Formats: sequence, structure tokens, C-alpha cells
Amino acid sequence: MRFIGNKERLVDWIHNIIQEKELEGNIFFDFFSGTSNVGKHFKSKDYQIISSDLLYFSFVLQNAYLVNNKKPLFEKLLNSIEASSNLLFSDNFDLVIEYLNKTPLVKGFIYQNYTPDGTSHLEKPRMYFISENAQKIDAIRLKIEEWKTKKLITKNEYFILLACLIECVPFFSNILGVYAAFKKDWDVRALKPLKLKRIQLIESNKKHFAYNKSSMELLQSHKYDIIYLDPPYNQRQYAPNYHILETIAKYDNPEIKGVSGMRNYDNQKSDFCNKIRALNSLEEIVKSNNYKYIVLSYNNEGIMPQEKILEIMEKQGSVEIVEYDYLRFKSNNNGLSKTKKYIKEQLYILKNKA
Ligand SMILES: C[S@@+](CC[C@H](N)C(=O)[O-])C[C@H]1O[C@@H](n2cnc3c(N)ncnc32)[C@H](O)[C@@H]1O
Repeated sequence: MRFIGNKERLVDWIHNIIQEKELEGNIFFDFFSGTSNVGKHFKSKDYQIISSDLLYFSFVLQNAYLVNNKKPLFEKLLNSIEASSNLLFSDNFDLVIEYLNKTPLVKGFIYQNYTPDGTSHLEKPRMYFISENAQKIDAIRLKIEEWKTKKLITKNEYFILLACLIECVPFFSNILGVYAAFKKDWDVRALKPLKLKRIQLIESNKKHFAYNKSSMELLQSHKYDIIYLDPPYNQRQYAPNYHILETIAKYDNPEIKGVSGMRNYDNQKSDFCNKIRALNSLEEIVKSNNYKYIVLSYNNEGIMPQEKILEIMEKQGSVEIVEYDYLRFKSNNNGLSKTKKYIKEQLYILKNKA
């Protein structure tokens, strides 16, 4: 998924460093889960994952990829919907996805608030989705909720289907990467008919945990071997940038405002987007002393200065920094031009002396 700070392309490197440095233990706290890509990778390497994020749609992904350990069977659902009879050769998961793809369109919250047709009364009608795709999102989202209410799907099956929808929506959104604004012309991706696809799940025989709260509240909830920190690097809050994914995940008919139709995110603001509060929180994590190692992903453009991070960490043990030159495409000029830029990705590795 397109997500600021997504570590998908760096997880192998992170994992290699953890092995090279011989960090022992397999209880892994993905403190800033986001897409849950880091948790996913370490789950597939047989770690036990504890994971959390302030964003609810991240919690959906965490439940689908981390908490769920097996292929969904949708047994109860398939007994009660007609789909099973005419699609004999697919497996159950494919059947349900196909059924959802054929659900009759609904003019629901997403259509009414994020398409030009639904918002034609506004001075600047919103162009996040074409009408048909928005109605499809509404229809699929409502159907999943209906199945949950009728107890036709299990909790894991519910999160798996929601995750399929969350993963799919960005491919049909008329944005430059984040939902803080929509594009003024239609992007080709937004004009394609939306098609739901199944996600790849990860099997495991360990029990994994997902939370939707500030990870600061979880510092003493489990015993951790590795706390992996991947905080926001700058002042930009995450919640407003992903407000529509949040609303699709919650589907709670929120009050929205402004040109972009933003939901309120007061209780999702992160202390890590403020230099002083970020450093204070880092200190609290380091002092929690409930871990063997802290691995912090950061880069040379982050708001916490290197000397301050080292000062905090070195009080609790030995610290090493490993760097990696990472080529990033930076959008300038409202996304009209892109320049290549090398960013120094850093891993701070703190070995707790206690
Ligand atoms: C850099 S992103 C993490 C990206 C993630 N590693 C990935 O690969 O997708 C930072 C994440 O931290 C979350 N966040 C910020 N403050 C938090 C807090 N106090 N507790 C939990 N999550 C927080 C944000 O919502 C955002 O999803």
C-alpha cells in the first residue's frame, strides 16, 4: 500500500541487521505498525508479534495479517449465500471476493461525500472517486458489516475482508499518494473499475496481538525482546493524510468538513510529530526497561537530532547506528515533477544493559 514511511522495501535489510547483530529472542513489538509490513515480515520469520497504531485502518490490517493465522473458510457464510452453488471450482476465499465484487451498487457515505456527483452542491465538488467506484466501496463495506451483524462471519474473517477493501481502495483513488487533497483532473488509476482482490495471509502457530491505541500505553503490557520503533519523521500527522481509509474502515458516518471532507482526528495526534514531545516519549520508552533491544528506524531528515537520540539511548546500554543509502523519489511542485534523492536510512540498535 502507498503509505508514508512504509518499510516494505527495507524489511529484509532490517531483518538481516537484526540477525547480523545477533539480537536474541522472538517477541517483537512493532510499535508504529502502519501498514503492518514489518510485523508481517517478522511473523513470517517465526517471531511473535505485538503491534499497535493510532489509526483504525492499521488495526484492521494488523488483525488480518498478524492476529489471523490461517486461511479463512467462511463456512457459515457460504452456507447462507447462493454464491457457493455456481462457482464450484474456486476456493472459499475467492468465492466470497467474487460475491462481493458483484454486490449491487449502493449510494452510501463514500459516494455522497467523496464523488463529484454526490457533492455537486459544494463550491468545489470532491473528486476522490468516480461515482461507480465509490458506490462499489459503499456496497462492499455495507455487505461486510451486514455479514458481521448477522454473525455469518467470524471476527478474523471480518477483518480479512475489510483489509481486502482497504488494500484495494488506494489503487482507485484520485490522489497524489495521500488523502489530504484530491487531484483536479482524473488520474487514470481512478477511472478503472474497482475490483476487490484477496490479500496474502500468513500462517503461524504463535499467538499475535494487535491494538488500536498509543503504543506508549503498552510499554508494560507484554514482555518484549525487540521493540521496533518506526515513528513519524516529521511534523506531518498521519491521520489527516489517510482520513478516507479511516472512514472506510470505521464506516461510522463521521462529521466531516473542509474542501477534502476531513474527519476529526484530535484523538489520533502523535507526540512523535513534535520534536520535544518525541524526545520525551523516546526517553520514556528507553526507560521502560521491559525489553532486551530497541531498534529505531530513523533518517537523517527526522525531527529528533542524532545527538539527542544517542544521549537518551546511551543511558540504558550500548548503541550502534547502521546506515543505508535509500533512493527516494521526492515529489516537488505539487507532484508535477519528481527528483531522485538519496536519504540515509538509519537503524539505531540499543542493547539494554539491564
Ligand atoms: C512511519 S509510520 C510506520 C510505518 C510502518 N513501519 C510501515 O511499514 O508501514 C508511523 C506510524 O506510527 C503511527 N503512530 C504515531 N504515533 C503513534 C503512537 N503513539 N502509538 C501508535 N502508533 C503511532 C502513525 O499512525 C503511523 O502509522
